[in-house]
Amino acid sequence: MAGSAALCAAAAFPLAATALPERADDRPIVPRRTIVDLVRNDPATVARIRLAYANMFAWSKEHPDDPRSWPQQAAIHTHAAARGENDPNYLIHGSYFFFPWHRAYLYFHERILAWHLTERTALDPTLRLPVWNWDTNYTELSNPTIYTDKTDVSGAPNPLLHERSFLYFERDDIKALSALTFTGRDFFGYPPALDASHNGAVENGVHANVHVDMGGDMGSIHTAANDPVFFAHHANIDKLWAWWATLPGATPAPAPGDWDRVAWTFTDWDGSEIVVRPADVVHYETALRYSYAKPELPLTGPAGATDYALVHTHSRWHAPTEVRQRILSANHVSLKCLNIGVPGPGRYGIAAIVPGRTIPQHLGWFTVFIHHGVKSSNAFLDVSEARAALLHPDGIRLALVGKDLTELAVATAVLHVR
Ligand code: C2O
Repeated sequence: MAGSAALCAAAAFPLAATALPERADDRPIVPRRTIVDLVRNDPATVARIRLAYANMFAWSKEHPDDPRSWPQQAAIHTHAAARGENDPNYLIHGSYFFFPWHRAYLYFHERILAWHLTERTALDPTLRLPVWNWDTNYTELSNPTIYTDKTDVSGAPNPLLHERSFLYFERDDIKALSALTFTGRDFFGYPPALDASHNGAVENGVHANVHVDMGGDMGSIHTAANDPVFFAHHANIDKLWAWWATLPGATPAPAPGDWDRVAWTFTDWDGSEIVVRPADVVHYETALRYSYAKPELPLTGPAGATDYALVHTHSRWHAPTEVRQRILSANHVSLKCLNIGVPGPGRYGIAAIVPGRTIPQHLGWFTVFIHHGVKSSNAFLDVSEARAALLHPDGIRLALVGKDLTELAVATAVLHVR
């Protein structure tokens, strides 16, 4: 009853904005399932996901300005990112707003799809976004088939096909999971700053690398959400946050008054405006009515991790002698660098220049995906395999690999060891 009254009211007079916790969502808690699981075990759900998008695309031709149309759904991301160039409350990239903003965005997109699925007669209670789980080391995962098949089983064109280039796909994204060994702001990201990417360990690493690997619209922040696979990629990012929160040593989300001085407004399936604060989306199962399967691989969390600062003397970085053995025998070693000077957005590598070796040791990639004013970024690289090079007794130089090799301008370089 309440639902249909709200729908009529929304059509005639847009409702005043409601805070998310005041608007009860009594749908069942339904899992967001992986593409691999759906394709193998549940073609009917694959068909429902495609139909929901097909319905949305068709309706959008007549209603291109409605916030529930496909062009407007995609534009939400573009506009928020653009607004973040001047408004720190919209720094949804390069700050600790990254996780909660994208979680809220996916939630409303998912509900709007569920409305289109029914030809806009009701809110389908069980439709949930698929998860593109590129973090599991199966080769087939570089090909999210729900989005890449030319046709569906009936032979009709797949509405989710989109121009993409699959550029790099190095398939070492399994290293993504080392991001889950960080805690606090190293995981969530740091408070927003207009000229810096204050990202945490997931964002400029595996998150941005998959965008760039995918190419096409996904490769640029301004166009990324024009590709429907964006939502399956971000469901996986959201899953990493969900998994991380259950691991030993994970810390609570940033406290109210800090994370919570911001509120964003989204349009729901019935046209109503809903105001969301980051704290409203932390308990996603009860508040947002979806869940994720448990990890298939054992996960390493933050518990037991230790940070050892590298010491910068004589323009070389030195690991303290007494911790070398500990670093060599650890399970995971990551290099954390905060506030690296970068010439602007782009894809960068970090390399170690090791005494006596002619070829720099490549340590990993990160991608700065934020606006034109950006001058610095954080990087969190899994260097487990390259750790020995970092321990050279004479110290090493660290270089930023962009168009050429330049000395890494960074005050903090830390080996994060677990
Ligand atoms: Cu808002 Cu994957 O970016």
